Amino acid sequence: MAIKTVTAAEAALLIKNNDNVGFSGFTHAGCPKLVPLEIAKRAEKEHAKGNHFQIGVFTGASTGDNIDGALSRANAIKFRTPYQTNNDIRKQINNGTIRYFDLHLSTLAQDLRYGFYGKVDVAIIEASDITNDGKIVPTCGVGITPTIIKMAKLVIVELNRWHPKELRGIHDLLDMQDPPHRTEIAITTVKSRIGKEYVEVDPSKIVVVETNIPNDGSCFAPVDETTARIGENAANFLVNEMIKGTIPKSFLPIQSGVGNIANAVLAAIGKNKNIPDFEVYTEVIQDAIIDLMEEGRITFASGGTLTVSNACIERIYKNLPFFKERMVLRTSEISNNPEVIRRLGIISMNTAIEADIFGNINSTHITGNKIMNGLGGSGDFTRNAYISIFLTPSTAKGGNISAFVPMVSHVDHNEHSVKVIVSEYGVADLRGKSPKERAIAIIENCTHPNYRPLLYKYLEKGFMGQTPVNLYNAFAFHKAFIETGNMQNAIID
Ligand code: COA
Repeated sequence: MAIKTVTAAEAALLIKNNDNVGFSGFTHAGCPKLVPLEIAKRAEKEHAKGNHFQIGVFTGASTGDNIDGALSRANAIKFRTPYQTNNDIRKQINNGTIRYFDLHLSTLAQDLRYGFYGKVDVAIIEASDITNDGKIVPTCGVGITPTIIKMAKLVIVELNRWHPKELRGIHDLLDMQDPPHRTEIAITTVKSRIGKEYVEVDPSKIVVVETNIPNDGSCFAPVDETTARIGENAANFLVNEMIKGTIPKSFLPIQSGVGNIANAVLAAIGKNKNIPDFEVYTEVIQDAIIDLMEEGRITFASGGTLTVSNACIERIYKNLPFFKERMVLRTSEISNNPEVIRRLGIISMNTAIEADIFGNINSTHITGNKIMNGLGGSGDFTRNAYISIFLTPSTAKGGNISAFVPMVSHVDHNEHSVKVIVSEYGVADLRGKSPKERAIAIIENCTHPNYRPLLYKYLEKGFMGQTPVNLYNAFAFHKAFIETGNMQNAIID
């Protein structure tokens, strides 16, 4: 049976006011590009006529500007989950215009299937190939694609010819069973393949929009002195653990978070020749992973998305047979799966916005109230890792903010899950330490010297008890920042 082909504008007309729409992809990678722009235009037209037109948005993670940017600027989003990184949608979330709820990325697909967030009316999927009998091959980011395709009444496929058809075979897409019938997830090595190369759906649900649009992958910031030192510190820590025998000599798979710091740290680990060639089992495959695969330092990468610069993805597509032998792209439910993370013994490395001296981590909120990006997969990995590591420069905003504070203004990962913290000054190994010992390890090894005396003073004033917090001074750093723009003006009394 021939699948119907329509224009992007015609596809946008199939979406109804108040529909819940699931988008494929993870970060900008794998996201549809044309239909969301047409939905945004349609929303603007409807609003001009005085009609209400908004949709609920489910995604794998953050998206390209064509989804979060265009739709939020058109005031076309009624709610949004999970992770986002776009300035325009972030502003609307923080000013209360868009209802946003954040969650562990591994849980969204199953929560949707469990019916926690209502229906998925429409799925909009970027594909590199589609067959007449309804086999859809994603592009370079997967996210929640299989679940939304299965749940939606209508599947709009953007067949993007910019991606080669030969991507087929790079994905491993599992049909998940749900409780009470779920058996083990049989991934026993980073390379394990347990699913299909495509998602299969009744072709009568599908309409196709043909496109040829490049990714909007941008480049990472070059490694600077601070990120290079964080990287070296993390790499040296891992080498010492191998020497001690707490990490096997054959090493363990690495997960590395998103952003400039994670990218730089991975590069530093790759450069450290005391660490053997290694594998990654991660969510986001960034440029540094591809560089290290080409050098032979990373022997296999399992991820959910190729979130790389366009120059990098062009290199991958030119040499696809090489990468298909060494790479698998999975759904976020599997790339971030707690059962698999614990089985494989993943070493997790994620970036914090702020940490407190007792080892609690804030990954998501500035001054406790404003969302930055979201939790992403940091919780999936941190809670289940063999060793969970958090990385952060000791200060932000030219030194006016200390990344280490008496008490975090928002908690994403607590003291029971966080094993190690690394800054450009050194490594705080929190394992086996009491709260007071953890505080000393963090202040001594990780904080900026400008903030050390203040943090020691806070600790001296701690209330008697297991955890020496001082509730009167707990937010003195944040108060000083709000009132004077500089945490160094904090008054601890
Ligand atoms: N207070 C205020 N701003 C802060 C801050 C703090 N304590 N710490 C960092 N920032 C700001 C930086 O100044 C920078 O701002 P800019 O964009 O205006 O320059 C921004 O946050 C990003 O920080 P940067 O140092 O460039 O690091 P990054 O690109 O590595 O991003 C996170 C850091 C924490 C925002 C990012 O890693 C994140 O969203 N993490 C949560 C999700 C996650 O861990 N996912 C991975 C799981 S697989």
